[in-house]
Amino acid sequence: MADDRFNTIAKEYDLWPIVDPAYHLLHESVIKRIEEGLAGDPRSTISVFEIGYGTGHTTKMILEADPRIRIIGADPSSGMLAEANNLLDGTELAERAQLCLGGALDVMPHYGPYAQVVSVCTLHNMVPSERPELCRLSFENLEPGGLYISGDKVAVNDPAQYLLMWDRWVRDFDGFLDHGLLDSYYYWRNHEVDDHLNRYTEAEAIGMLEAAGFVDVTIVERLNMYVVITARKPR
Ligand SMILES: C[S@@+](CC[C@H](N)C(=O)[O-])C[C@H]1O[C@@H](n2cnc3c(N)ncnc32)[C@H](O)[C@@H]1O
Repeated sequence: MADDRFNTIAKEYDLWPIVDPAYHLLHESVIKRIEEGLAGDPRSTISVFEIGYGTGHTTKMILEADPRIRIIGADPSSGMLAEANNLLDGTELAERAQLCLGGALDVMPHYGPYAQVVSVCTLHNMVPSERPELCRLSFENLEPGGLYISGDKVAVNDPAQYLLMWDRWVRDFDGFLDHGLLDSYYYWRNHEVDDHLNRYTEAEAIGMLEAAGFVDVTIVERLNMYVVITARKPR
């Protein structure tokens, strides 16, 4: 499945933290869960599937977290693949990453089973009807005892509280204007409206994972509009 939604912004994507300090905190939190999940694993090679590698920023952090990790990544944006290759090529990390051009639903079944399925800021960009299928497929392609870790934009359950948070969130996009980034400002405003219309709640996120068969489904942290969710496949 080709997806050009991110192609227009791929080159500029790394400017996003200008308006969103929680983006880095989200990554740190996800990496911490990956490390905790692998602590005590005696294996010398560990297979991790990454949903939506984007510019490779997340991929790089995952690879740096543990030298035993081998990543299979999926992303349908050719612009993002080019950015990710730019970031990793020529480094030792590239040898441990296989970045595939395609949606996670298509790519994931070809290379499992995985010790972990990880994603940052991706599920909210998927067509809503694909999300339960992604949870089901992640469950199917994880090893027994394997860990699903997602850091994503997820709405709080209370609609009134969500709207207040969303209003504050969108106002922060003015930070692009302070840097003279008019195109980024309009791109992200439009993108955000799509995200808002396609949002899913904490209850829906937990429900999808439990319906897929996961246990210990837990929202381990909330960072502004994001949450980090972990779930385990029973042994
Ligand atoms: C907001 S970016 C996040 C990238 C990276 N994880 C980060 O946090 O910087 C979301 C990425 O998900 C990708 N994406 C969208 N739909 C996808 C799908 N069905 N499967 C895999 N990736 C997808 C987009 O192309 C985009 O590169």
